Amino acid sequence: MLDRTRNLPNHSHHAMHVPRTMFTAGIDRYGGPEVITAHALPVPEVDAGEVLIAVDTAGVGRWDADVREGLFASRKPHFPLVLGYDGAGIIVKVGSRVRRLKVGDEVYSYNWENPKGGFYAEYVAVPADKVAPIPKRLDLRHAGAIPITGLTALQGIDDALGLKKGETIIIHGASGGVGTLAVQFARLRGARVFATASGKEGVELVREMGAHAAVDGKRPDVHDHARRFAPDGADAILALAGGDGLERCLSVLRPGGRVAHPNGVEPAPKKRRGMTLIRYDGISGVREFERLNAAVQAAKLRVPIAESYPLPRASKAHERLAEGHVVGKIILAVHDRSV
Ligand SMILES: NC(=O)c1ccc[n+]([C@@H]2O[C@H](COP(=O)([O-])OP(=O)(O)OC[C@H]3O[C@@H](n4cnc5c(N)ncnc54)[C@H](OP(=O)(O)O)[C@@H]3O)[C@@H](O)[C@H]2O)c1
Repeated sequence: MLDRTRNLPNHSHHAMHVPRTMFTAGIDRYGGPEVITAHALPVPEVDAGEVLIAVDTAGVGRWDADVREGLFASRKPHFPLVLGYDGAGIIVKVGSRVRRLKVGDEVYSYNWENPKGGFYAEYVAVPADKVAPIPKRLDLRHAGAIPITGLTALQGIDDALGLKKGETIIIHGASGGVGTLAVQFARLRGARVFATASGKEGVELVREMGAHAAVDGKRPDVHDHARRFAPDGADAILALAGGDGLERCLSVLRPGGRVAHPNGVEPAPKKRRGMTLIRYDGISGVREFERLNAAVQAAKLRVPIAESYPLPRASKAHERLAEGHVVGKIILAVHDRSV
């Protein structure tokens, strides 16, 4: 953990002491978890509209593995490529145009495809509008686990589905990073929540998160359980896993019902007659983080962390991710250097 008493923030200054080089976990080529290795790299410079964050916690998600494997490879990849698209930490430097944030602020951030390197690093430079103060009720470790998953969960419930009080929702694949938060946001909006999860532990977890009913979504009779919960059909479905289980859940949607899924859910559901299908991406921005902070507070959000790895063991975290059955979210503890 960062020693928060060290470098006590002095707000009259625009910077704290920052070393020239830093430890990062990056890749020199695309491939399996083993391609993630330690790299000592220069600490990135901040442009006028950016802040430099001393990273405390970085999120690990399946999109990190996709990038590692070269799924989004550009024609001219810039190696070494430091992975990691979200996390939390303390601002140690602000660009000359930044007014909203200051040195010493505890912040969290989601910034996709950063040419200056990602969050699997001791320091990251990001545009200030992708950064926000951490929610009051979370510490850096838990805040660092939710920028991507929290924004994606909330925008799924509020923007994609427009979920209303009293409606019935099925959240399919609720035991992972996005789903455990989506269950809580759906409850916050006053919906009745049927969650499908993976395995006994997953089912237990989503019940703890507030699902009114939960079953293993890999059961062949998952739709019978859903139908019993929603005899008139579900108003909405948030799909966080694809495949047969999802197709069974879709059969329980009422005519005119809505189905939403973030891009990346595979196989993606196909549109059926009488169904509104919404595909979306989680969006990062000032307004989006204000809404997330408000929802975290109102929901008294709980953030289940499945496992935490020190930064030098980032490749182990990816091996774990590949094994599946992660209940909650995997994070990297960047300032815990014990291996
Ligand atoms: N486009 C965007 O902006 C965006 C942002 C965030 C996430 N996403 C996408 O959204 C999806 C969810 O993300 P995530 O981070 O929450 O992933 P995750 O942590 O892997 O969660 C998915 C959960 O669904 C479970 N599951 C799989 N098959 C199931 C089934 N048949 N029934 C019930 N549960 C099942 C998984 O369990 P097992 O591991 O045991 O199978 C896992 O617990 C991913 O596809 C991701 O790529 C997109």
